[in-house]
Amino acid sequence: MATAIAALPCVCSASMGRVAFWLNRLFLQLRAAHWRRTDLATRSQRHWEWFGNQPTQRGYALMDWEQRFYASALHDNDELLLIGCGSGRDLVALLRQGHSVDGVEPAPGCVALAKQALRDHHLQAQIFPDPIETHTFGKRYDAAIFSWCTYCYLVSSNDRISVLQRLRRALKPSGRILLSYVVRAPSPTPGGMRLTRWLGPLLRSDIAWEIGARVATHHRLPFFERTFLPSEIAAEVQQAGLRIEFHQEAEKGLGVLLATARAGCGEESQNRHRHRALLEPITSIL
Ligand SMILES: C[S@@+](CC[C@H](N)C(=O)[O-])C[C@H]1O[C@@H](n2cnc3c(N)ncnc32)[C@H](O)[C@@H]1O
Repeated sequence: MATAIAALPCVCSASMGRVAFWLNRLFLQLRAAHWRRTDLATRSQRHWEWFGNQPTQRGYALMDWEQRFYASALHDNDELLLIGCGSGRDLVALLRQGHSVDGVEPAPGCVALAKQALRDHHLQAQIFPDPIETHTFGKRYDAAIFSWCTYCYLVSSNDRISVLQRLRRALKPSGRILLSYVVRAPSPTPGGMRLTRWLGPLLRSDIAWEIGARVATHHRLPFFERTFLPSEIAAEVQQAGLRIEFHQEAEKGLGVLLATARAGCGEESQNRHRHRALLEPITSIL
């Protein structure tokens, strides 16, 4: 009895903690329901500026899965477009590998940090302060890389497909598009997100919340993220007229996809062989 009484404050504070968590979640979903696309962009930018300033972003190294993925799809001295270059972590790493890289990044705070990182490392790159949806390509690239799940931050399927179509035209004939994404399980949409999707149109939001879209927070800073079934992402890539060279799970919950625009055959099968060897033992999603 005495033990049960002693444990009571812990049980109470754990339950209060859960209630507070769910109330916060509910409040976030209600707020999200009346956001417009411009609100979403502003809030996401604040989040990414916080993220870009974290000490973990200052290692300027590729993650293990990026190392393997990029090594399998890039050639020496490729000219790259890095979409969502943030505060420069992967930008600096790719430049150090000898690639020439242009970055695209809409968050002004991240652009400033990335430029500082370039100066600190005595490297040079162009950084365009744009969202990729409105970026005008000034040259043709060997490959476009959507940095670490950046594909998931484009809000609508139309936006994503149109960006892929424009990228296809901005690539050289042997051009490649590399993207990574958050894989979702085919389970029903969580209740909170269903509430946002239902309330949004009533509150005249101009965001069409797709299945798989979610709002999350880091340190109370909300951001938008679209999660995908592998079949959904494959459909978008194919709708943009691209061909999938490989599509795999790079680590738990993270899918990677390599697409090209060209229609070769001999070279393609050689490439497939090369990618398989380099990405083993990653499991194939398709
Ligand atoms: C996960 S962070 C990656 C940052 C850094 N490249 C890295 O890998 O550590 C995603 C980045 O994509 C950027 N981003 C979000 N929406 C974007 C868009 N529509 N076009 C281009 N970049 C975008 C964010 O501002 C953020 O810096």
